[in-house]
Amino acid sequence: MSDIIKSEYTEGDSFEKTIRPTTFLEYVGQSEVKENIKVFVKAAVMRETALDHVLLYGPPGLGKTTLAHIIANELGVNIKTASGPTIEKSGDLAAILSTLGPYDVLFIDEIHRIPKYIEEILYSAMEDFKLDIIIGSDGQSRSIKIDLPPFTLVGATTRAGDLSSPLRDRFGITCKLNYYTTEELTKIVKRSANVLDVVIDDEAAVIIAKRSRKTPRIANRLLKRVSDFALVMGSGTITKEITNDSLTRLQVDEYGLDNTDIEYLQSLINRFNGGPVGIEAIAASIGEEQTTIEDVIEPFLLQEGFIKRTIRGRQVTDKTYKYLGISKETEL
Ligand SMILES: Nc1ncnc2c1ncn2[C@@H]1O[C@H](COP(=O)(O)OP(=O)(O)OP(=O)(O)O)[C@@H](O)[C@H]1O
Ligand SMILES: [Mg+2]
Repeated sequence: MSDIIKSEYTEGDSFEKTIRPTTFLEYVGQSEVKENIKVFVKAAVMRETALDHVLLYGPPGLGKTTLAHIIANELGVNIKTASGPTIEKSGDLAAILSTLGPYDVLFIDEIHRIPKYIEEILYSAMEDFKLDIIIGSDGQSRSIKIDLPPFTLVGATTRAGDLSSPLRDRFGITCKLNYYTTEELTKIVKRSANVLDVVIDDEAAVIIAKRSRKTPRIANRLLKRVSDFALVMGSGTITKEITNDSLTRLQVDEYGLDNTDIEYLQSLINRFNGGPVGIEAIAASIGEEQTTIEDVIEPFLLQEGFIKRTIRGRQVTDKTYKYLGISKETEL
């Protein structure tokens, strides 16, 4: 799939780190979520207690990891990070938990992917700040209890629905991140340009904002690519012309759809007569992983009304036929 929309674990992505906001003030949009969290953070600081556990969910690239770091920063505590699939044994979890200081933040990304038995250990850690693990094996095994300092677990997931309800219930604060408006993304693009020390025209910032699938990560990636074109082909300043030209070269259209989205939509129409069709068949048809389709490609297409989900599967809408310039075959 295209580099622009793909969402992979980006902790090591130095570009993302450079432009990642570190305070609530710099974090654009998501005002409801932000205002609420601000109050809870302030209250925790005033009471000198740990902030309640926070669950952040929403499509990739909307700022979950960023917000987790901001929460720790605004609390004035350390953040330790882990990712669901990398916590395989109870010892892995114990090792991370034992590094936590009082009121620290433990950030677990992709929290829906932690194994069930680890999840159960997490329950008492979250509730009573006690770690209850069994060490040794067979007849030799014994249970040990370790006291933990009060801490805040911040969990992030693109799939809140995959979280078991006992785990979900242990988060005192649950926040859904939404897609961004053009105005918000324009602000983000301008801020990032500033951090990267590149000059961008107002109109160019708006064009990038409009074509970035309502997603800050994509806006920033497009900005980076366009700034490369501006540097090599122009004077370095990102103008409207250079932006339009670069986005055409990158095959990102006015809706922000790129060739992966278009392939998905065309496949639905050409091979499955517009649907409804199951996710497995689509995955096989376009050669993408099912989870990539569900987590990365579909949320935006659903939100923009290009497809709808029915109990019998995915179906394209009239908007898609119009968009692709394909006339809808009437059923005989
Ligand atoms: N509200 C925001 N204001 C400014 N920049 C933002 C905001 N949200 C996200 N970004 C930018 O977008 C990039 C991606 O955000 P982030 O990594 O936090 O997304 P995510 O929700 O954790 O994605 P994933 O589900 O793939 O882990 C960050 O590098 C950051 O610079
Ligand atoms: Mg993340």
